[in-house]
Amino acid sequence: MNEKELGSTVQAMMAGDKGLLAMDESNPTCHKRFAALGIPQTEGARHAYRELIVTTPGLGEAISGAILYDETIRQKTKDGRLFVDVLNEAGIIPGIKVDEGAKPLAGFPGEKVTEGLDGLRGRLGAYYQLGARFAKWRAVITIDKGLPTNGCLEANAHALARYAAICQEIGIVPIVEPEVIMDGNHTIEHCAEVTESALVMLFGQLYTQRVDLHYTILKPNMVLSGKDCPQQASVKEVAEATVGCLLQAVPVAIPGIAFLSGGQPAELASARLNAMHVRFRSKMPWALTFSFSRAVQQPCLELWAGKDENVAAAQKALYKRAKLNSAARRGEYTPEMEKS
Ligand code: 13P
Repeated sequence: MNEKELGSTVQAMMAGDKGLLAMDESNPTCHKRFAALGIPQTEGARHAYRELIVTTPGLGEAISGAILYDETIRQKTKDGRLFVDVLNEAGIIPGIKVDEGAKPLAGFPGEKVTEGLDGLRGRLGAYYQLGARFAKWRAVITIDKGLPTNGCLEANAHALARYAAICQEIGIVPIVEPEVIMDGNHTIEHCAEVTESALVMLFGQLYTQRVDLHYTILKPNMVLSGKDCPQQASVKEVAEATVGCLLQAVPVAIPGIAFLSGGQPAELASARLNAMHVRFRSKMPWALTFSFSRAVQQPCLELWAGKDENVAAAQKALYKRAKLNSAARRGEYTPEMEKS
């Protein structure tokens, strides 16, 4: 394991007040978001949208790393520059999603396990050659009657740990993402319980598989009320429940935590991250930042709407959300900033 290389990647990923940009939507997910806005679901549209993102002026002021998808890491801009080179020039480290998606877990109705371990060493080696210096693997955990089961938590944590160990062997920093999904009418307390169990299981498996936590980034969900829960927790309650859960379950050796947004409205995601910093900054042993996809991209995607003439306005919207989240990481975000 090249500790020096992994260490400098981790440091750059968590630097200052920056965060990560998830732009690793698989083609079906990307098409779902395009379809909702009437954007053609074609390779050309995906390419144009990703080029818009990576060429956004000033993005590197707020974004330290971008998670790419297999298709995107090989693509070039219209003027022939590899996206990876454009990102590096902007001071943004290229990363790569390497899991092959969540599939039904045999014997566990309603639950999923993330696949992609077969051949992973070879794929990671190739991604390293293409310029990736960190990777992402997402596990999906559903809250429902009697769910999640221990079997589901264990299968997913085991796969995450196996993936993370191979990443470190190659010189790629693993992001481990056990996402407890927002869907459902569960309370915030229930989400806290499940998130804590998922994290405890994950860190047990990371230990068993000899993953070095110093070179591992955690990408968790915030602890939230279920989307359909009639009692929605306040920003302050979310901050308290989330940091409380992380302090209980995440070892101090982890250098950084970068949240997924999970379908939260963009403004709320910023406000919640901000509240965690305002209230708990001195108590947290890890860097705490964002690794949002929808909560950074959605306003940009809506403005772009698939049209060339909207590129500049869409890039401004992307830059703005990235900067607002970076303000949240400093604990300096206010809703008034949304208007500027
Ligand atoms: P969202 O922020 O849209 O949840 O996406 C983050 C991500 O990378 C999911 O794997």
